[in-house]
Amino acid sequence: MLDRHAVGDLPPKHHIAFRGPDGSLRFEQCLTREGFDGPYTILYHVGKPHTARTVGLAEGWELPVDAGGLRPLQRRHYLSTQVKRGGSPLRARVPMLFNTDVVLSTMTPDAPDTTYVMNGDADELFFIFKGSGLLRTMMGDLRFTRNDYVFVPKGIPYRFVPDEGVAQHWLAMELLGGLHLPRQWRNEVGQLRMDAPFCHRDFTRPTFAGPVDEGIRDVIVKRDGAFHHQVHDHSPLDAVGWDGTVYPWIFPILNFQPRAGLVHLPPTWHGTFAGRGALVCSFVPRVVDFHPDAIPCPYPHASVDCDEFIFYCDGNFTSRKGVGPGSISYHPMGVPHGPHPGSYERSIGTTRTDELAVMLDTFQPLRVTAAALAVEDGDYHESFIG
Ligand SMILES: [Fe+2]
Repeated sequence: MLDRHAVGDLPPKHHIAFRGPDGSLRFEQCLTREGFDGPYTILYHVGKPHTARTVGLAEGWELPVDAGGLRPLQRRHYLSTQVKRGGSPLRARVPMLFNTDVVLSTMTPDAPDTTYVMNGDADELFFIFKGSGLLRTMMGDLRFTRNDYVFVPKGIPYRFVPDEGVAQHWLAMELLGGLHLPRQWRNEVGQLRMDAPFCHRDFTRPTFAGPVDEGIRDVIVKRDGAFHHQVHDHSPLDAVGWDGTVYPWIFPILNFQPRAGLVHLPPTWHGTFAGRGALVCSFVPRVVDFHPDAIPCPYPHASVDCDEFIFYCDGNFTSRKGVGPGSISYHPMGVPHGPHPGSYERSIGTTRTDELAVMLDTFQPLRVTAAALAVEDGDYHESFIG
């Protein structure tokens, strides 16, 4: 959750009578986290937000299923560019790796959502590897483009409208225990600290223009791994204003302020977002370490409590060869990992890296789906030996 934001028409105090120009009462909706103890947003609707009818179960995106079988413990490389699933964003997701905290999917949508979608299980973080479009939500619109993180908190109706004729390839991250900015970057009043790797202005908040009626009454709600079809008798996007800290936003990855040290800094310095059992890191172009004998390439390491997932976006990744844009590397705990042969030595004396990648460290082991197995580079593990 970000800073407090207020848009549209609001009464001077919460929980008091608030009427429209015709005298009709507005309906308050308090969207609260952690019961009533956490961040919250209060919206004011023209219609009642709690009167949707349940139609029944619905279809949504593919849910993750373990591919089964016991495979050798080794470093893995999956070619996500070979995974094609078109259609609306609601249907386009293909889970690749998952555990009880995160589901990591690739998606190549080529049509807009025709209903609203609401995730009742997870906060969602999308990374736009390729493409552009519009995210329309109950709290306003957000235009997104390549290299944007797009955040949608759980419980908010939304739909995606990918730009027509533009190739789309997104990484979708469901965070089942929620997502937040790392707490060490807040001061005592919740403001982002002066030494944080981002500032409030780096985030784009929704553009709100009052109630929206697109003629859509249907909402597909995901809850406990199932999809439910609900129908409203009015547009669910009928808020006249809202006020709070829970709302969707966009953070362009290139707004992340990277760090360099005298010697190599660990991935925690690239930590951008945190969730239960997960840390999302952004590797962006930067100058590298400046000790005369520094080895800028990451050292071989055994991070024994984490599985490591990296989605490669652009540039030449310092420590790896054979991976390219759209590659996913998966280095499980229990297997020390490090640079490819020659990378360690070659990095000495370099001054910059142009790598762009999104990494997740997860604290529970990830499981793999059949879709990932189908696009695995079987030579990857051995490619480190030499
Ligand atoms: Fe690593």
